[in-house]
Formats: sequence, structure tokens, C-alpha cells
Amino acid sequence: MTAPAIRAERLFRFFHSGDDEVLALRGVSLHLAAGEWLALTGPSGSGKSTLLACLAGLDEPDGGNVWIAGRRITRRPEPARARMRARHIGVLYQAGNLLEHLTVAQNIRFVRRLARLHGDGDDVAARLDAVGLGGRGGALPGELSGGQAARAALAVALANDPAVLVADEPTGELDELTERAVLGLLAARAAAGTAVLVASHSRAVTRAADRVLHLRDGHLLDTGER
Ligand SMILES: Nc1ncnc2c1ncn2[C@@H]1O[C@H](COP(=O)(O)OP(=O)(O)O)[C@@H](O)[C@H]1O
Ligand SMILES: [Mg+2]
Repeated sequence: MTAPAIRAERLFRFFHSGDDEVLALRGVSLHLAAGEWLALTGPSGSGKSTLLACLAGLDEPDGGNVWIAGRRITRRPEPARARMRARHIGVLYQAGNLLEHLTVAQNIRFVRRLARLHGDGDDVAARLDAVGLGGRGGALPGELSGGQAARAALAVALANDPAVLVADEPTGELDELTERAVLGLLAARAAAGTAVLVASHSRAVTRAADRVLHLRDGHLLDTGER
């Protein structure tokens, strides 16, 4: 049997602010299969961003472990965690994951270099075509429209052909048409075998996902409902 794309067991994360301790994650466990698209919902402050950061290797939980495609990403020195992240994980943020002083094509090549990937996948034009951005590789992020920037961010998040794509409120600032286009691209990506995990309040996102999980105060409620 192949390992799940993401396996998280009993994740805990605490933060201190002044004398207060915030329990952002209180024992979250989840499995996500390759090709599965999971939406994560929950009120503001329920721990969605903290959970995504722990799953993506951007943050280290205080308790519990995460495995990506069968390999543990937690409890490792930061350089090892960064290498795993660069190679196996794509991250998409509402605020954008593009380096502003690099063109779109240079952003894609930069991610591939970080992942130490070379070869056929270096066909940047094909990657831009796949997100409907053909011909815009030479543009700087600041020169793109909102919809184009969303597509560019997705192309960059996918530039390392990740096993797992993690997106934190990726469509929060998009118009309905662009949101639908981005969701179509995410669906295609999941169909191609990438595990997709999206934190979002959008009904369009939860409707499009294969499965929906709800977070409340750092606990996961798996109701299976949309
Ligand atoms: N770096 C941090 N320092 C202190 N508290 C934090 C930090 N990050 C998140 N929190 C707290 O953890 C809880 C969960 O936050 P977050 O994961 O951002 O929730 P969500 O994404 O669902 O809005 C909140 O109470 C938030 O204030
Ligand atoms: Mg958040």
C-alpha cells in the first residue's frame, strides 16, 4: 500500500502572548490520499493557518508528527525540513507567493532550482499554458491583473510538481470568475494525483472539494458534510 500524501498524528501547537497561552492545535490527526482534495473550514482563529503551516513544514508543531508521502517532516533540523518542503510541497497564499523583483518565468525557475529539479519539467512555457498564462512569462508580478496574478501564483506553487499542495484562503480576494478558474485548475491538479488541501470560507471551495473538515478551537470535527 502506498503511504498517504499527508499523515498527521496528534498535532499540538501552543503560542504565548504575554501571560496567556493560546492552544492553537489540540491534537489534530488527519490523512490525505494522493489525488484527494480536502477543504478545511472553521471560524477565524480556529487554527486553520497554524495547521496548514505545520503540515507544509513551514512551522514545527510542539507535539505530534507529520509525514509527507511516507517521510517524516517534523523533528528534523530546519535545513532538512526546508529541503523536503522545497521538493515535495507547494504552498499557495492569498497574499501571493511570488518574488516581486523576478519575472513570472524566473519565479518558476527559482522554485525548481530550490527543489534541485532540472530536465523536462523546465519547460516554463508549458507550465504557463497549463494555468492559462501563456505568453506572460516575461511579466513582473506587479504588471499582472488580479486574475493573472492568481494564475501565476498557482504556476509557481506547482513549479516543483509537489506531492502536496497547501493553500491558505487562496481565493479570498478573487472575483467569482477567477475563483472558478482557480478551482478548476486545482481540481485538474488533484485529478493528476496531487493531494490538495485548501483552507477557505468560500462555499465554492467547499462544494468543489472531495471532503470537508471543520476546525473549532484547535479540534477537528469530521462531519463529512459540505
Ligand atoms: N505566531 C503566533 N503568535 C501568537 N498566537 C498565534 C500565532 N499564530 C496564531 N496564533 C493564535 O492561534 C490561534 C489560531 O490562529 P490561526 O491558525 O491563524 O487561525 P485561523 O487561520 O483559523 O484564523 C489564534 O488564537 C491565533 O491568535
Ligand atoms: Mg488563517
